Amino acid sequence: MAEVVVVGGASEGGDLVARAIRDLIASRPDAVLGLATGSTPLPVYASLAVSLREDPLDVSRVRGFSLDEYVGLPEGHPESYRSVITRDVVELLGLAPDNVLVPNGDPGALQTAGEDYERAILAAGGVDLQILGIGRTGHLGFNEPGSSFASMTRVKTLTPETRRDNARFFDSPSDVPVHCITQGLGTILRARHLVLLACGEEKAEAVAAAVEGPLTAQRPGSIIALHPHVTVVVDEAAASRLDNLAYYRYAYANKPRWQGI
Ligand code: GLP
Repeated sequence: MAEVVVVGGASEGGDLVARAIRDLIASRPDAVLGLATGSTPLPVYASLAVSLREDPLDVSRVRGFSLDEYVGLPEGHPESYRSVITRDVVELLGLAPDNVLVPNGDPGALQTAGEDYERAILAAGGVDLQILGIGRTGHLGFNEPGSSFASMTRVKTLTPETRRDNARFFDSPSDVPVHCITQGLGTILRARHLVLLACGEEKAEAVAAAVEGPLTAQRPGSIIALHPHVTVVVDEAAASRLDNLAYYRYAYANKPRWQGI
């Protein structure tokens, strides 16, 4: 069962996850981080940046793999996930740019981009800690409803709903690409620790479907039931549709602190 941690707000969640990442890097200086875009993980990166400033730690060997990328945005487009990860993670945390990969959304490279990416993750020894947000459709990365549980990095078609949700980052809704390249649900399941963050009422339904099932490809988030080490960090609003919320609070309150998350 996923561990559900209910936090007071996004910044408390960010602090909690940033601490776990810091501990991971301290024990494994070449840790492999699974990075996510979207607004939800930003407090994690911000908190980690503050912590690294106040109490420096060598991050020069930390590696990172981002979950997904739009297909066909011009190189350097400010909303390409390559640009976002460079700005919000690599530069903010002072990671070595060459250590952080994003799937290649160049239409000319797409036929092999998925396999290349899978090979690179395997060569790095796999992801130690994968940060995840969740879309309102329940998507992880860009694995929209119906995605195979066994899927690996590949091209997908975004749902109109996801394109609408992400239109806020673009000048016009029609500028949001129709296609993306995303790690598969099978890729995500290989990471050693999944940390899923969600805030706000609009995520409550997707969170409930992810945590309490049923396990179905129609709700990609429900794959977390197949993973042995998952932490779900949610605020009160995102937790509001969980049937077993009282038990999750009780379990976390009684957890030995040395276990971390
Ligand atoms: C995008 C990303 C996902 C992210 C989702 C939710 O579609 N591909 O990885 O989880 O948006 O974004 P937000 O955190 O901004 O709600």
